[in-house]
Amino acid sequence: MIAQTADPMRPYTGRLAGVRDLATGIKLFQVELNEPAGQAAFASCKPGQFAFVSVFGAGEAPFGVTSTPARTSAIEFAVAELGHVTHALHTLEVGEPVGIRGPLGNWFPMEELEGQNVVILGGGIGGAPLRPVIHTILDNRSDYGHLTILWAARSPDLLVFTDEFDEWGSAPDSEFHVTVDQADDDWKGNVGLITQLLEDVEPETKNAVAVTCGPPIMIHFAFLALQKMGFPPGRLLTTLEARMHCGIGKCGRCNMGEKFVCTDGPVFWQSEIAGFLEGFL
Ligand SMILES: Cc1cc2nc3c(=O)[nH]c(=O)nc-3n(C[C@H](O)[C@H](O)[C@H](O)COP(=O)(O)OP(=O)(O)OC[C@H]3O[C@@H](n4cnc5c(N)ncnc54)[C@H](O)[C@@H]3O)c2cc1C
Ligand code: FES
Repeated sequence: MIAQTADPMRPYTGRLAGVRDLATGIKLFQVELNEPAGQAAFASCKPGQFAFVSVFGAGEAPFGVTSTPARTSAIEFAVAELGHVTHALHTLEVGEPVGIRGPLGNWFPMEELEGQNVVILGGGIGGAPLRPVIHTILDNRSDYGHLTILWAARSPDLLVFTDEFDEWGSAPDSEFHVTVDQADDDWKGNVGLITQLLEDVEPETKNAVAVTCGPPIMIHFAFLALQKMGFPPGRLLTTLEARMHCGIGKCGRCNMGEKFVCTDGPVFWQSEIAGFLEGFL
């Protein structure tokens, strides 16, 4: 893990450098930190890590970092408006102060994935922590095998990072497929669950690792479908969300069996969480 502030519960101070709509009720927030120690910590942030974002006067909440330091010095979060803190964040304007505690947790083993085919399944806002995985593969294209991206949302207006679909689909040795559970009048693409799309696309299972993130129910069924297809549990990765308070393994809020999602995860191999995932459904 990467060291953070001397007091791990004290956030680095920063400001909102950019905000844009990503999907209905979901915004992309770009944060620039004021403190050199914070800038240095996030310059080594790895795909899959998360951070707590503080909205002063409202509180803090954890979010997956959706950017890579190779592409931007700002720290980006894709945030769905849900309750107290996320509502306060959605009402902030560019230039306003925020705090960031992190980077926290483990990360996707990108070095281990080198030379392998990678299948990515992103569902809804769950695609956010997978964007750094996609960017890392695209920015180091020859280090990885074939890239298959399967992307999904409940409806077209909930698809995130639509402005990057062309880049993802046109990269060398890569393919991109998208589906929605329910179409609207303008939707001309696939309709159906991501597991159906997976069966239709039938990605190569040899020398391949599948990486999923989305609602727990999606992860559960994606794992079942991937295993049926020939992926053993040791070739399936996911990142989990849990109710969190401290994010540093002290409060016991996020435990899953003997594991803490905040410090042992949030990234897990399916073999590590078999039997526990059902508790999240
Ligand atoms: C490691 C990690 C990464 C995350 N990444 C993202 C991300 O990239 N983008 C994003 O939008 N959200 C992400 N989340 C979820 C995010 O933390 C919650 O949406 C946020 O804490 C809600 O805060 P709030 O104050 O707005 O909602 P609250 O007012 O606290 O709650 C509103 C409602 O949401 C429920 N809720 C709150 N937290 C969670 C949770 N963790 N899981 C399920 N239900 C919850 C509450 O029970 C309540 O019903 C992540 C969570 C974790 C632990
Ligand atoms: S959030 Fe406190 S132990 Fe994980």
